[in-house]
Amino acid sequence: MHECFGQIGFGRVAVELIDALLGEHGAFNALFDTIENLAEAGGQLAQIESATVALAAELDSHATLEEEVLFPTLIPHLANDKLIAEMNAEHDEIRAGLERIEDARNIREAVDAVHQTLAVARRHFRKEEEVLYPLARQSLSHEEQSRLANAWAAARYVHIE
Ligand SMILES: [Fe+2]
Ligand SMILES: [Fe+2]
Repeated sequence: MHECFGQIGFGRVAVELIDALLGEHGAFNALFDTIENLAEAGGQLAQIESATVALAAELDSHATLEEEVLFPTLIPHLANDKLIAEMNAEHDEIRAGLERIEDARNIREAVDAVHQTLAVARRHFRKEEEVLYPLARQSLSHEEQSRLANAWAAARYVHIE
């Protein structure tokens, strides 16, 4: 059964969920560095594009989980939906940026799109890490947090107790 962290009362499983999302950010940061290094080292267009295709699939899965599971659960706890609207807009901006990298016709276009898109993505991650995720930890009820953790586990095919 789910334990609570004493007087703070955070669901143990839920803390693991936010930790899991943070862990995914960590993995993405490593991929960002790889793609940026390829771009800066004057890598081949095909290499940059294939690394971006892999990143885009993973990132889309992470963002979709936030959009379909985390955000709708969090919205009723917020005074307005400004922060969530901002996060959704940034997801769209990142998806569009990744498509620009994939569609780049030459290395110059690809490198420009890499720099712009990764800057937006890094800023977005920082906002989630500093504002949104802490807010989720504080505001969501024990039941909501457990439900989110289960949804994450189902999406990632991980079994959790
Ligand atoms: Fe996000
Ligand atoms: Fe995220």
